Amino acid sequence: MMQNKPIGFFDSGVGGLTVVAEIFRQLPDESVVYFGDVGRYPYGPRSKDIILQFTRQDVAFLREQDVKFIVAACNTASAVALETVAAENDIDMLGVINPGARAAIEATRNGRIGIIGTHATIASDSYPKAIHKLDDKVKVFSLACPLFVPLVEEGYQDKQAARLIAEDYLKSLREVKIDTLVLGCTHYPLLKKTIQDVIGSDVRLIDSATETAAEARKYLEQKGLLRSDGKQTRHKFYVSDVPDRFAPVAERFLGRRIDNIIIVDITKY
Ligand code: DGL
Repeated sequence: MMQNKPIGFFDSGVGGLTVVAEIFRQLPDESVVYFGDVGRYPYGPRSKDIILQFTRQDVAFLREQDVKFIVAACNTASAVALETVAAENDIDMLGVINPGARAAIEATRNGRIGIIGTHATIASDSYPKAIHKLDDKVKVFSLACPLFVPLVEEGYQDKQAARLIAEDYLKSLREVKIDTLVLGCTHYPLLKKTIQDVIGSDVRLIDSATETAAEARKYLEQKGLLRSDGKQTRHKFYVSDVPDRFAPVAERFLGRRIDNIIIVDITKY
């Protein structure tokens, strides 16, 4: 039965586990198949063509796992490639951009929204386009914050170095008086405390992982696709490489240990 199949997730690496962590919280009865392209991480500094090629392969792999629905848990892949890849496939897909955009529109009071993400996400203009589709009067201020990703991977999110870099990056967004800031990258929710301290407590932070999980839940409810067999969940985690430090980093993103990580050759897809 369709509703008892797992949900597929993919990301450029471990970052998308923030979305899976939210799914575990919001939809504890669902089974998950996750693919993290750890061997080709990061996607953020890459060209549109390469991100598109990688996203096509990630989706082709998940389709082979017979999932009922695919979540692009990577902001960069969602921003740059999802629209194209979704049009090429006959399976429903959800990215992180629209849920984040909707939540930002609901949150803003002064109509001034900031977006932070990787170089590729910001260059794609996907967040401003998604926001303006909902409300064309809102002012959107976009900013690439590429150094946040390695800071989080190295566990520096609460250190002074992270604060100094955040102060430098976010200065321009403070000056334009945004009241809402979209954390448009899988890694940024782990920097929430530092970002909030620097941007000010009056600015509302939008976590696209939380919003995406909520939207996935709504979608499955509406389509009658919530799992209903009452059996124990079975999660599977696939990656394109397992670097030495993979396990502790993945655990930081997911909030629990992952056993049985399976390596796949993604270039075959
Ligand atoms: N997962 C990416 C994103 O959300 C961040 C890491 C990368 O650059 O691949 O944009």
